[in-house]
Amino acid sequence: MRIEKPTPEAIARAASVLREGGLVAFPTETVYGVAGDATNDRAVAAIFAAKQRPRFNPLISHVADLEAARRLGRFDARAEDLAARFWPGPLTLVVPRLPTSPVSLLATAGLDTVAVRVPDHPVASALLRAVGLPLAAPSANRSGRVSPTTAAHVAEELGDSVAMILDGGPCRVGVESTVLDLTTDPPTLLRPGGVPMEALGLVQLPSDAGSAPRSPGMLTSHYAPRLAVRLDATEARPGEALLAFGPGEAPPGFAAVRWLSRSGDLVEAAANLFAALRALDRPEYAGIAVMPIPEEGLGRAINDRLRRAAAPREVE
Ligand code: TXA
Ligand code: MG
Repeated sequence: MRIEKPTPEAIARAASVLREGGLVAFPTETVYGVAGDATNDRAVAAIFAAKQRPRFNPLISHVADLEAARRLGRFDARAEDLAARFWPGPLTLVVPRLPTSPVSLLATAGLDTVAVRVPDHPVASALLRAVGLPLAAPSANRSGRVSPTTAAHVAEELGDSVAMILDGGPCRVGVESTVLDLTTDPPTLLRPGGVPMEALGLVQLPSDAGSAPRSPGMLTSHYAPRLAVRLDATEARPGEALLAFGPGEAPPGFAAVRWLSRSGDLVEAAANLFAALRALDRPEYAGIAVMPIPEEGLGRAINDRLRRAAAPREVE
């Protein structure tokens, strides 16, 4: 595995690796993804193997633009409208699969829907245009662990299971895309993410009554550092490190303090979240405590990831 600057030459090489069924890690505005040709069963199987991801958890197909997206799934007026408003950007739309959809059935885990997004990152766009295929790309971490927001994180997570890592610097948004299921009315918010729920208009939340998770990324334990994570911390416990959020002061007595945002800016906090969790995940600390973060805007996505990081670990 090599970390490479995203020169036109490196992007052309990455595209040929992908056309031959290999895997490439690449930056998006949300997190780094590990990409394979979404139409190639063997490439998709290699993604599941590299991540050690359960095969019932489907993958997002990334495309360069709406026109390419329309070849994968059925875009009704509602889908067209959302795509026009938020693409390119951190919104994934779950739409009915077209009978002619070239996406591997393994990538959609046998569902009759397909999840599609157009990422807003120059390297991602250049790669998608160079390869001319939809790219299945989950976050480039081992299943259940913290998502990578730098090329170095990807190298730590996936090592030699990817042929190359395109280095686009730190990801701007820092939490994954919002996943919206358009097969229900109103649409169902399957995963809070980079597009705040408040921007989407009327949506419903998935009922947790059903047994099988509708979006298997909703498995409870996820985004887990090695250390235990404790939420809504207002005072220190012995040896703990603190993930702090302003604008107030950090409570005293922690072994280390890392700020998500000193000023209480949720956009800044989202961008810092995964790198901060990684930085505090060290054996010299007894655990990671997190100050309360408001449940609004990007705070919903941040709290969703933190709740999963704090959840019991038996799932994976
Ligand atoms: O920001 C992102 O979305 C990143 C970057 C790399 O684009 N990708 C990402 O992929 O987070 P992944 O595979 O880690 O998460 C995909 C989520 C999962 O929760 C999965 O269950 C859900 O999307 N999903 C995929 N296809 C689906 C479908 N057909 N129906 C419902 N949920 C689906
Ligand atoms: Mg992920």
